[in-house]
Amino acid sequence: MSDHMPFTPTEVLLLGPGPSPVSPGVRAASIAPLLGHLDPEFLALMDRVQSNLRELFGTQNRFTVPISGTGSAGMEAMLVNLVEPGDRMVIGVNGVFGGRMAELARRLGADVVEVNAEFGQALDSQEVAAAIDGGPTRLVAVVHAETSTGVLQPLAGIAAAAKAADALFLLDCVTSLGGTPVDLDALGVDAAFSGTQKCLSVPPGLSPLSITQRALEKAASRSTPTPSWYLDVNLLGGYWGGDRVYHHTAPVSMIYGLAAGLEEALQEGMTARAARHRRVAAGLYKGLEAMGMSCLVDAELRTPMLTSVLVPEGLDEAEVRKRLRQDHCIEIGGGLGPLKGRVWRVGLMGHGARLESVQRLLSSLAAVLASMGRPCDIGPALDAARAAAG
Ligand SMILES: Cc1ncc(COP(=O)(O)O)c(C=O)c1O
Repeated sequence: MSDHMPFTPTEVLLLGPGPSPVSPGVRAASIAPLLGHLDPEFLALMDRVQSNLRELFGTQNRFTVPISGTGSAGMEAMLVNLVEPGDRMVIGVNGVFGGRMAELARRLGADVVEVNAEFGQALDSQEVAAAIDGGPTRLVAVVHAETSTGVLQPLAGIAAAAKAADALFLLDCVTSLGGTPVDLDALGVDAAFSGTQKCLSVPPGLSPLSITQRALEKAASRSTPTPSWYLDVNLLGGYWGGDRVYHHTAPVSMIYGLAAGLEEALQEGMTARAARHRRVAAGLYKGLEAMGMSCLVDAELRTPMLTSVLVPEGLDEAEVRKRLRQDHCIEIGGGLGPLKGRVWRVGLMGHGARLESVQRLLSSLAAVLASMGRPCDIGPALDAARAAAG
């Protein structure tokens, strides 16, 4: 027998911080026959993807496109285009991804003013406003749903402060898009980026971006060239816009998958989809509570798509995750940064946000805990989850 056999991965229920489970429709779309990346049929699909992304982002921004690369590429695209050396930037850091934006901006030579909050807390909008007022600020950046903690950041106060200072407002929507309403135009967001592998339930590899005309004009009138050729929005706009000028070979199959994921999301409707995420997360909270466990984040600040669960005292949390994967084919995440070893991160995102996911996770977790000498009665937990999510 040949050693060169195709890889056949196990079907794992992906309930970590991403990637999330892919629907059968997205999976089928991703293996459809390839078209050329300048083929008229493919160009028509690109138009459809852009208009569906606008609807999901809640924006009229003409420049709304999926760029090739994961969420971090979207983050980097925004910063390389909108920031020049010496620009003052106010960045909210209450988790790993706010910290990543600050690190990237520093590498680009920006004058970064961090506004910090403890991991698991929201940013204080008055503190952000005070930082913005501390000097002429070009850009204010925050994370909408912090996947490292599970906090959903209230945005109205920060958006108003950025607007009052005439600063650009940049929002990380990697985990929020498709799981909770985003509404860029209503909020006054100038630039946003997301990722396909969270609540859109599409494989990782694309980062939807949306940028206002005002921000594009700032990007076009830089005094220094955009330090990245691949991520230059002026060049990308030529391929995704009217001229269809070759820039790089688009990842055709990934765009098929995204197109299918967007159709599914919009068919369900964002209001219903957000309600489903909230209902299913409520089932998780109640089920965990019945098992004697609790969440890191206060109820009113939780993002339904990602829950940080406090690890019970004295438990080897990594061993629990290992047994869930090995014995039950379920993936959940561990804590990052200061939360390492203190929390598990449970993602209920997109296609994975359903009661069956919660039921399977709770039952499997109970079995793992029993195998580690901590038996618990799963019946009341499943009843509580069903009652809350049903
Ligand atoms: C809020 C947030 N921002 C940015 C990223 C980076 O995305 P990626 O890992 O797809 O590069 C992630 C990934 O988990 C995220 O959750």
